[in-house]
Amino acid sequence: MRLLITGAKGQLGEEFTRILRTGKADIGPVNARWADVEFLRTDVEADAQSSTLELDVTDRSAVDAFLAEHALDWVINCAAATNVDGCEADVEFAHRLNADGPANLALACEAMGTRLLHVSSDYVLAGDDPLPQAEDATPNPKTAYGKTKLEGERLVTTLAPSSVVVRTAWLYGSRGKNFVYTMSRLGREHERVRVVDDQHGSPTNANDLAWEILEIMAWADEVGDAASGIWHATGSGTTTWDAFARKIFELEGLSCEVEGVSTEEWGAPAPRPAWSVLDNRRLRETIGDHMRPWEEALASFVAHEGLKA
Ligand SMILES: NC(=O)c1ccc[n+]([C@@H]2O[C@H](COP(=O)([O-])OP(=O)(O)OC[C@H]3O[C@@H](n4cnc5c(N)ncnc54)[C@H](OP(=O)(O)O)[C@@H]3O)[C@@H](O)[C@H]2O)c1
Repeated sequence: MRLLITGAKGQLGEEFTRILRTGKADIGPVNARWADVEFLRTDVEADAQSSTLELDVTDRSAVDAFLAEHALDWVINCAAATNVDGCEADVEFAHRLNADGPANLALACEAMGTRLLHVSSDYVLAGDDPLPQAEDATPNPKTAYGKTKLEGERLVTTLAPSSVVVRTAWLYGSRGKNFVYTMSRLGREHERVRVVDDQHGSPTNANDLAWEILEIMAWADEVGDAASGIWHATGSGTTTWDAFARKIFELEGLSCEVEGVSTEEWGAPAPRPAWSVLDNRRLRETIGDHMRPWEEALASFVAHEGLKA
């Protein structure tokens, strides 16, 4: 069994690495299927220290050559352009990374008999319906990030129909930039912070998500194409960014106050969905939804990452 993790130096890629190396996640032991797995890490820039090889997913011939050289059972694609405002400012870049990259991987996977696990986003949906959205909700993205992620999903499922696509949202992990680290820093530097209070979503610990994705992949190996297509996987429960920030400060023992502001007042360049709540229905109806309540997953993140003041 051999896997490739692309975008391995990102938040989710690092979490896959961590749990495959140790055989355990915060939720519990990794599925026995992956016990002796050999996995390769690639990213746009190589890094000898973390055993990361260079693979630019937007380079079709490099992707073809890499997959032809290494006999892989699965590719887990964590490479993406994830800066929502950055995507709005440079749509061509967003398209290359979020649509062309996954298409290159899908074509190479299909040619080599490798299965593709592709990660997508809540931003493919319009985000204006207060009800949790299941996998069959009609996509209607409003941002360049969401539009290019949707195109990526569609290319993947068309070019390599056995692929598994997992949408997530509000992701944080132990590496890279994320809301938890940003709030942790601001909460130490300031007595009061302003945080948006009218966007709703489900914070998702990348450690839980990587574990759950490996469960989906193990099941996909058993049932074949019955596991193909779209899945939703986010932390359980719903909150707002300001309540998320308050929880972070509470868990870290910080006295920083949170002042709620509206999305309009905040004024980000790209529109933000008011409702980013995904329903993990397919998980519930198949292998079970093990994603922990967001407060519990956050508490173990804070404890493990040593963020306490
Ligand atoms: N973060 C969230 O809140 C969130 C929410 C919903 C869905 N998602 C989805 O979850 C997945 C993982 O997100 P993440 O937060 O782990 O992303 P991330 O931390 O931004 O990681 C993405 C990785 O891809 C690398 N990369 C950039 N260009 C590349 C290229 N041409 N070829 C190969 N690798 C390249 C990045 O390198 P550089 O850093 O050097 O550019 C980075 O290491 C993505 O598909 C994302 O759309 C994320």
